[in-house]
Amino acid sequence: TDPKTFTPNGFAFKEVKAGVDGTHHVADGYEAQCLLRWGDPIVGGAPDFDPYRQTAGAQNRQFGYNNDYVAYFPMDDSGAFIEGARARDGNERGLLCVNHEYALAPMMFPGVEQPGGDVDFASIKDWMVDVEMAAVGVTIVEIERDGDAWRVVTDSPYNRRITANTPMTVDGPVTDEDAGGGLERLKTTYDETGKDLRGTFANCAGGRTPWGTYLTAEENFQYAFYTDETDWEGMPALGEQHHANRDRFRAYGIPTKGYVWGRDYARFNLDKQPNEPNRFGWIVEIDPFDPKSKPVKHTALGRFLHEGAETVLSDDNRVVVFSGDDSKFEHVYRFVSDGTYKPGDKQANMTLLSKGTLSAAKFNDDGTGAWIALKCGEGKLAADEDFARQADVVIDARLAAKDAGATKMDRPEDVQPNTKTKRVYVMLTNNTSRTPDHPKVAANPRANNRYGHIIEIVPDGLDFGADTFQWKILVLCGDPNRPSLETNWNPATSEDGWFVTPDNAAVDNQGRLWVATDQGANWPSTMRADGLYALETDSEGGPTPHLFFRVPVGAELCGPCFTPNGETLFVAVQHPGTDGVKNFHESDESDESSGGHRSSRTDASQEGKPFDASAPVSFENPATRWPDFKAGMPPRPSVVAITRKGGGKIGG
Ligand code: FEO
Ligand code: CA
Ligand code: CA
Ligand code: CA
Repeated sequence: TDPKTFTPNGFAFKEVKAGVDGTHHVADGYEAQCLLRWGDPIVGGAPDFDPYRQTAGAQNRQFGYNNDYVAYFPMDDSGAFIEGARARDGNERGLLCVNHEYALAPMMFPGVEQPGGDVDFASIKDWMVDVEMAAVGVTIVEIERDGDAWRVVTDSPYNRRITANTPMTVDGPVTDEDAGGGLERLKTTYDETGKDLRGTFANCAGGRTPWGTYLTAEENFQYAFYTDETDWEGMPALGEQHHANRDRFRAYGIPTKGYVWGRDYARFNLDKQPNEPNRFGWIVEIDPFDPKSKPVKHTALGRFLHEGAETVLSDDNRVVVFSGDDSKFEHVYRFVSDGTYKPGDKQANMTLLSKGTLSAAKFNDDGTGAWIALKCGEGKLAADEDFARQADVVIDARLAAKDAGATKMDRPEDVQPNTKTKRVYVMLTNNTSRTPDHPKVAANPRANNRYGHIIEIVPDGLDFGADTFQWKILVLCGDPNRPSLETNWNPATSEDGWFVTPDNAAVDNQGRLWVATDQGANWPSTMRADGLYALETDSEGGPTPHLFFRVPVGAELCGPCFTPNGETLFVAVQHPGTDGVKNFHESDESDESSGGHRSSRTDASQEGKPFDASAPVSFENPATRWPDFKAGMPPRPSVVAITRKGGGKIGG
């Protein structure tokens, strides 16, 4: 196909009704199978899940918590990766890699207290910390078709868990001694090499490489980093010993109070290990087909709150990786490898992410744009002695991108290239801190951007490796019935189809875009649960969204992923029964944006008993017990496999 003339097809399915309740909903004519739930045994000998007898030893061998990105790697009969798989290949058997973004003690364990809605860290026992650290990271599991359904191959030699404790290593500019090195910024009292890293967590979205490896993106890693000193509000504070590096810590939101890990493990306590945060915030490459292989953190791709790492090729076969930095006023990044992809040569290809050019996007107001290279000694960085070495550029990528003049965006989540059209879609989820006082920029046109937008990038020459591009706003999200939001949906958009706060995205094998949403605790302002939307990007009259799948109350939808033939869609339902459910029966009356949707409340519990809206949700008092709906069983984040009844492509 010629990307210049390729136009994606439309969709043919009957939309799900928008709304919110305690369970999931899929379009008519489709089957949704719950394939992997938190706690499911994934390696031989792992115990069955028992929420009242959790141990780190069990969790290390069970499916982790809060599934996020999902990648499917097609396998041939011998168990090898099918490189360059086409629609006909590898749809019966493959490896599924799944991120587990974060742990949530009050929903995972009985007895965690939340007086006034804030978690009481003292009620999080030491054993719970160990389970949390085993529940994050990545799961690799073999799956196969079993009639109309999928099944987990629990005795597969490929199955493994990667956690916050798994040994890993590092490469790229930080390890390049000829270029001035930088490993001293990664050294700790327990690792004098700076290369003997421990674990990954905050694994948000990710990517698949053409050579069959998995990329996991470390996002909100700052939540683990802790200090003994506190400020007047009791929040962790940087003591005097950190003042020389204060700006570097603060650029990444460190310290903060998310996990209590630093109480039990000195490496998360900045006063004891000030370099530990420099060991997180990277893109990690994992070879799922070599269960003994050590994951590698590729510093060439920069350190920031990586949302994802979608991989494509430039016209001259270099590897291009797009990544968003999911915080307010942060940037969109691109990495282009120096070397070129060689089909069939995995060993050589596994060095491609070690060396290349990291850039950040500048969106000019006239609809043109450029990727500004972040290179020490070049451009605006040449004048800044903080960036004398490339190691410092990549470790402090956020500061370098600002110095270089990249555009500050409204929380860039997934950045999704479409290989059929050679366009790139940037999900900008929201930014309520962009006040009217901020300079107006065309790429982030809304003040108080609660509902987000999507930008379409067209690389010059339709080459993902080009350094310049044209861009436009594809969608300003929100309820089209509210003129003040100035949404631009196609007039044909249904009452169920419109969405807000785009987060994850995927492109199917027909070049069609699918967008998953994450409203966080803000969903009572729309009274519709998050979901997966099929988005016609090129329909006449503007983009047309259609609701395909809806999550249970308090969940967000992550990781849409298709098999090569487009006939199975894997989605990850994250934190069911959690976000914003305090408001489930009582949406905030003072919220102007609640619009006319307050009336559509339904019972979340699915068990007939009223939900106590005054108490924070917890293990004991969840808003739903999806997907098991068994008394005493907490809600479980799960991966769902969706197929069409009688077979056929997802979305028609
Ligand atoms: Fe982990 Fe930006 O979502
Ligand atoms: Ca996300
Ligand atoms: Ca994606
Ligand atoms: Ca999000």
